[in-house]
Amino acid sequence: MTPDDAPLTHAITGASGAVYGVRLLRALNELHVPVRLIVSSTGWRLMEEELDIVDEDDLQAATGDWSRVICHTNADRGATPASGSAPSRGMVICPCSMGTMSAVAHGSSRSLIERAADVVLKERRRLVLVPRETPYSAVHLENMLAATRAGAVVLPASPGFYHRPESIDELVEFVVGRVLTHFGLESGLGPTWGGGEARG
Ligand SMILES: Cc1cc2nc3c(=O)[nH]c(=O)nc-3n(C[C@H](O)[C@H](O)[C@H](O)COP(=O)(O)O)c2cc1C
Repeated sequence: MTPDDAPLTHAITGASGAVYGVRLLRALNELHVPVRLIVSSTGWRLMEEELDIVDEDDLQAATGDWSRVICHTNADRGATPASGSAPSRGMVICPCSMGTMSAVAHGSSRSLIERAADVVLKERRRLVLVPRETPYSAVHLENMLAATRAGAVVLPASPGFYHRPESIDELVEFVVGRVLTHFGLESGLGPTWGGGEARG
Protein backbone atom coordinates (compact mmCIF):
# COMPACT_ATOMS: atom_id res chain seq x y z
CA MET A 1 0.00 0.00 0.00
CA THR A 2 1.47 3.38 -0.98
CA PRO A 3 0.76 6.46 1.15
CA ASP A 4 -1.67 7.60 -1.56
CA ASP A 5 -3.73 4.39 -1.23
CA ALA A 6 -3.69 4.47 2.56
CA PRO A 7 -6.68 5.67 4.60
CA LEU A 8 -7.10 9.31 5.53
CA THR A 9 -8.17 9.91 9.11
CA HIS A 10 -11.05 12.41 9.16
CA ALA A 11 -12.06 13.84 12.53
CA ILE A 12 -15.12 16.01 13.09
CA THR A 13 -15.05 18.04 16.31
CA GLY A 14 -17.38 20.47 18.05
CA ALA A 15 -16.86 23.73 16.21
CA SER A 16 -19.67 25.35 14.32
CA GLY A 17 -19.55 24.45 10.63
CA ALA A 18 -20.40 20.76 10.81
CA VAL A 19 -21.39 21.11 7.17
CA TYR A 20 -17.71 21.43 6.24
CA GLY A 21 -16.90 18.07 7.80
CA VAL A 22 -19.92 16.37 6.27
CA ARG A 23 -19.27 17.77 2.78
CA LEU A 24 -15.62 16.72 3.07
CA LEU A 25 -16.63 13.16 3.93
CA ARG A 26 -18.95 13.09 0.91
CA ALA A 27 -16.16 14.33 -1.36
CA LEU A 28 -13.74 11.71 -0.01
CA ASN A 29 -16.32 9.00 -0.67
CA GLU A 30 -16.87 10.29 -4.19
CA LEU A 31 -13.10 10.20 -4.74
CA HIS A 32 -12.97 6.60 -3.39
CA VAL A 33 -10.53 7.58 -0.64
CA PRO A 34 -10.48 5.13 2.30
CA VAL A 35 -11.47 7.05 5.43
CA ARG A 36 -11.02 6.39 9.13
CA LEU A 37 -13.75 8.53 10.69
CA ILE A 38 -13.75 9.80 14.28
CA VAL A 39 -16.42 12.19 15.61
CA SER A 40 -16.13 13.81 19.05
CA SER A 41 -19.19 13.95 21.29
CA THR A 42 -19.54 17.70 20.68
CA GLY A 43 -19.01 17.04 16.98
CA TRP A 44 -22.15 14.87 17.07
CA ARG A 45 -23.98 17.60 18.98
CA LEU A 46 -23.11 20.21 16.36
CA MET A 47 -24.13 17.89 13.52
CA GLU A 48 -27.51 17.49 15.19
CA GLU A 49 -27.97 21.20 15.90
CA GLU A 50 -26.83 22.38 12.47
CA LEU A 51 -27.78 19.52 10.12
CA ASP A 52 -30.25 17.22 11.95
CA ILE A 53 -27.69 14.41 11.72
CA VAL A 54 -28.00 12.38 14.93
CA ASP A 55 -26.18 9.10 14.24
CA GLU A 56 -24.02 7.14 11.80
CA ASP A 57 -27.04 6.15 9.71
CA ASP A 58 -27.93 9.81 9.14
CA LEU A 59 -24.31 10.66 8.40
CA GLN A 60 -24.06 7.82 5.91
CA ALA A 61 -27.26 8.94 4.19
CA ALA A 62 -25.76 12.42 3.79
CA THR A 63 -22.37 11.32 2.49
CA GLY A 64 -22.86 8.51 -0.03
CA ASP A 65 -20.93 5.26 -0.42
CA TRP A 66 -19.48 4.10 2.90
CA SER A 67 -17.75 0.99 1.56
CA ARG A 68 -14.36 2.55 2.37
CA VAL A 69 -15.36 4.25 5.65
CA ILE A 70 -14.35 2.77 9.00
CA CYS A 71 -15.78 4.47 12.10
CA HIS A 72 -13.84 4.65 15.34
CA THR A 73 -15.05 5.66 18.77
CA ASN A 74 -13.27 8.74 20.06
CA ALA A 75 -12.78 7.12 23.46
CA ASP A 76 -10.86 4.19 21.94
CA ARG A 77 -7.24 5.31 22.16
CA GLY A 78 -6.14 1.85 21.04
CA ALA A 79 -7.81 2.03 17.61
CA THR A 80 -5.72 1.90 14.44
CA PRO A 81 -5.22 5.70 14.01
CA ALA A 82 -3.49 5.70 17.42
CA SER A 83 -0.58 3.72 15.98
CA GLY A 84 2.23 5.19 13.93
CA SER A 85 2.88 1.83 12.26
CA ALA A 86 -0.52 1.80 10.52
CA PRO A 87 -0.40 3.01 6.90
CA SER A 88 -1.88 6.49 6.68
CA ARG A 89 -2.35 9.27 4.16
CA GLY A 90 -2.50 11.72 7.06
CA MET A 91 -5.30 13.37 8.99
CA VAL A 92 -7.74 16.23 8.70
CA ILE A 93 -9.74 17.70 11.59
CA CYS A 94 -12.68 19.51 10.02
CA PRO A 95 -14.11 21.44 11.68
CA CYS A 96 -11.50 21.75 14.43
CA SER A 97 -12.61 23.26 17.74
CA MET A 98 -10.27 25.49 19.65
CA GLY A 99 -10.31 22.84 22.38
CA THR A 100 -8.95 20.24 19.99
CA MET A 101 -6.55 22.80 18.50
CA SER A 102 -5.10 23.29 21.98
CA ALA A 103 -4.81 19.54 22.52
CA VAL A 104 -3.03 19.10 19.19
CA ALA A 105 -0.68 22.00 19.88
CA HIS A 106 0.28 20.51 23.26
CA GLY A 107 0.24 16.79 22.44
CA SER A 108 -2.44 15.99 25.03
CA SER A 109 -3.54 12.69 23.45
CA ARG A 110 -6.55 12.34 25.77
CA SER A 111 -8.88 11.02 23.07
CA LEU A 112 -8.43 9.05 19.86
CA ILE A 113 -8.67 12.26 17.83
CA GLU A 114 -5.95 13.91 19.91
CA ARG A 115 -3.74 10.80 19.88
CA ALA A 116 -4.17 10.30 16.12
CA ALA A 117 -3.15 13.90 15.48
CA ASP A 118 -0.13 13.48 17.77
CA VAL A 119 0.87 10.36 15.84
CA VAL A 120 0.51 12.09 12.47
CA LEU A 121 2.82 14.85 13.66
CA LYS A 122 5.44 12.51 15.11
CA GLU A 123 5.42 10.43 11.92
CA ARG A 124 5.83 13.65 9.88
CA ARG A 125 2.64 12.99 7.93
CA ARG A 126 0.21 15.65 6.75
CA LEU A 127 -2.16 17.11 9.32
CA VAL A 128 -4.71 19.72 8.20
CA LEU A 129 -6.66 21.60 10.88
CA VAL A 130 -9.79 23.56 9.87
CA PRO A 131 -10.68 25.89 12.77
CA ARG A 132 -13.88 27.92 13.01
CA GLU A 133 -13.90 30.54 15.71
CA THR A 134 -14.20 34.32 15.83
CA PRO A 135 -12.60 36.38 17.18
CA TYR A 136 -9.40 34.58 18.15
CA SER A 137 -7.83 35.05 21.59
CA ALA A 138 -4.08 35.17 22.09
CA VAL A 139 -4.37 31.59 23.38
CA HIS A 140 -6.02 30.46 20.13
CA LEU A 141 -3.41 32.23 18.02
CA GLU A 142 -0.51 30.81 20.03
CA ASN A 143 -1.96 27.31 19.77
CA MET A 144 -2.36 27.68 16.01
CA LEU A 145 1.24 28.85 15.75
CA ALA A 146 2.45 25.95 17.89
CA ALA A 147 0.51 23.47 15.74
CA THR A 148 1.93 25.05 12.59
CA ARG A 149 5.48 24.89 13.97
CA ALA A 150 4.93 21.23 14.80
CA GLY A 151 4.11 20.57 11.14
CA ALA A 152 0.34 20.99 10.85
CA VAL A 153 -1.38 23.11 8.22
CA VAL A 154 -3.95 25.47 9.77
CA LEU A 155 -6.54 26.02 7.05
CA PRO A 156 -9.33 28.19 8.50
CA ALA A 157 -12.91 27.82 7.33
CA SER A 158 -12.60 31.18 5.57
CA PRO A 159 -13.97 30.89 2.03
CA GLY A 160 -13.05 33.49 -0.56
CA PHE A 161 -15.63 35.54 -2.40
CA TYR A 162 -13.76 36.45 -5.57
CA HIS A 163 -15.56 33.71 -7.50
CA ARG A 164 -18.89 35.35 -6.56
CA PRO A 165 -20.53 32.41 -4.79
CA GLU A 166 -24.31 32.29 -4.98
CA SER A 167 -24.98 29.61 -2.38
CA ILE A 168 -23.80 28.24 0.93
CA ASP A 169 -22.79 25.09 -0.93
CA GLU A 170 -20.31 27.07 -3.00
CA LEU A 171 -18.79 28.61 0.13
CA VAL A 172 -18.48 25.21 1.77
CA GLU A 173 -17.01 23.66 -1.37
CA PHE A 174 -14.38 26.40 -1.52
CA VAL A 175 -13.00 25.26 1.85
CA VAL A 176 -13.43 21.54 1.16
CA GLY A 177 -11.66 21.90 -2.19
CA ARG A 178 -8.70 23.57 -0.49
CA VAL A 179 -8.49 20.78 2.11
CA LEU A 180 -8.49 18.11 -0.59
CA THR A 181 -5.78 19.90 -2.54
CA HIS A 182 -3.53 19.66 0.52
CA PHE A 183 -3.82 15.87 0.27
CA GLY A 184 -3.11 15.87 -3.47
CA LEU A 185 -6.75 15.17 -4.31
CA GLU A 186 -8.27 16.97 -7.29
CA SER A 187 -12.00 17.28 -6.67
CA GLY A 188 -13.08 20.13 -8.92
CA LEU A 189 -14.60 21.75 -5.84
CA GLY A 190 -14.10 25.48 -5.44
CA PRO A 191 -12.54 27.86 -7.94
CA THR A 192 -9.36 26.83 -9.71
CA TRP A 193 -6.57 29.06 -10.85
CA GLY A 194 -7.46 30.98 -13.97
CA GLY A 195 -5.22 34.00 -14.25
CA GLY A 196 -6.78 36.67 -12.06
CA GLU A 197 -9.84 34.60 -11.10
CA ALA A 198 -8.63 32.65 -8.13
CA ARG A 199 -6.35 33.43 -5.22
CA GLY A 200 -5.63 32.09 -1.76
C1 LIG B 1 -23.46 24.97 19.93
C2 LIG B 1 -21.98 25.02 20.12
C3 LIG B 1 -21.20 25.72 19.24
C4 LIG B 1 -19.82 25.78 19.39
N1 LIG B 1 -19.08 26.43 18.44
C5 LIG B 1 -17.72 26.42 18.55
C6 LIG B 1 -16.94 27.02 17.52
O1 LIG B 1 -17.44 27.54 16.53
N2 LIG B 1 -15.59 26.96 17.64
C7 LIG B 1 -14.98 26.36 18.72
O2 LIG B 1 -13.75 26.34 18.74
N3 LIG B 1 -15.71 25.79 19.71
C8 LIG B 1 -17.06 25.82 19.66
N4 LIG B 1 -17.82 25.23 20.64
C9 LIG B 1 -17.14 24.73 21.86
C10 LIG B 1 -16.60 23.30 21.68
O3 LIG B 1 -17.59 22.45 21.22
C11 LIG B 1 -16.09 22.81 23.05
O4 LIG B 1 -14.90 23.52 23.38
C12 LIG B 1 -15.83 21.33 23.07
O5 LIG B 1 -15.33 20.96 24.34
C13 LIG B 1 -14.85 20.90 22.01
O6 LIG B 1 -14.64 19.52 22.16
P1 LIG B 1 -14.14 18.63 20.93
O7 LIG B 1 -13.02 19.37 20.30
O8 LIG B 1 -13.72 17.35 21.57
O9 LIG B 1 -15.30 18.43 20.01
C14 LIG B 1 -19.20 25.15 20.49
C15 LIG B 1 -19.99 24.42 21.40
C16 LIG B 1 -21.36 24.34 21.21
C17 LIG B 1 -22.17 23.54 22.18
